[in-house]
Amino acid sequence: MRIALLGGTGDIGEGLALRWAHDTDHDVIIGSRDPEKARSKAEAYEAELAERGKAAKINGFDNEMAADRADIVVLAVPPYHVADTVEAVSTSLAAGDILISPATGMKRDDDGFHYHRPGAGSVTQLAVDAAPDDVAVIGCFHNLAAARLSNLDADLGIDTLLVGDDADAKATVGTLAEEIEGLRTLDAGSIANAAEVESITPLLINLAINNSGLHDLGVRFD
Ligand SMILES: NC(=O)c1ccc[n+]([C@@H]2O[C@H](COP(=O)([O-])OP(=O)(O)OC[C@H]3O[C@@H](n4cnc5c(N)ncnc54)[C@H](OP(=O)(O)O)[C@@H]3O)[C@@H](O)[C@H]2O)c1
Repeated sequence: MRIALLGGTGDIGEGLALRWAHDTDHDVIIGSRDPEKARSKAEAYEAELAERGKAAKINGFDNEMAADRADIVVLAVPPYHVADTVEAVSTSLAAGDILISPATGMKRDDDGFHYHRPGAGSVTQLAVDAAPDDVAVIGCFHNLAAARLSNLDADLGIDTLLVGDDADAKATVGTLAEEIEGLRTLDAGSIANAAEVESITPLLINLAINNSGLHDLGVRFD
């Protein structure tokens, strides 16, 4: 498959790009608002993989062109720019393409991180509202720590939760996610359940802040 990571120049985009390029033979495409930044990051990811003996071709483009070249488009951008990013690339999306939202809205105060639920119900729902009707949105990867993903020496052994209203698209994303070694997907239900999934992320960060020795936490449901 051809997977575009919009904002693939950032933390979670880097982790997903490295893992997919390392563990699979899918085409990984880095998107950015700045095509030069996308190309430079793509080269850096290729170089890191080459050091590990994996020859991978990763291309970088502006977000619109990255989306145009892909079947699967990951919205690896800050939560309150998910909707405008979808709108910016909407003419590059074809019927049957799948958007993946890993985004979680959070705010921080003296007590720690808190889930910041948008009026639409969840950030995943914001993506649904912005997406063309013939493009399914699946929520996935919300509760993964980017630093753990991008450290290819780190074993994952964790779960990621899927939410979505299109069963076929959810199955496709589940397969793609499980092709990352050490990642198991669990079905958390429909888009209406996305807030429950997104709200786990600040909990994981607060646990890491308050417990020495814990960092880059993930969840394994057993
Ligand atoms: N970091 C994590 O551990 C983690 C884990 C799970 C989920 N997430 C979710 O994944 C998403 C990305 O997180 P991140 O930590 O990777 O974020 P990030 O590194 O802060 O940003 C990712 C990319 O977003 C793009 N961006 C920045 N401002 C933008 C804007 N105004 N409009 C459009 N694009 C913009 C930038 O790419 P260009 O400048 O190249 O365009 C940037 O490299 C977030 O929604 C977050 O909730 C993060």
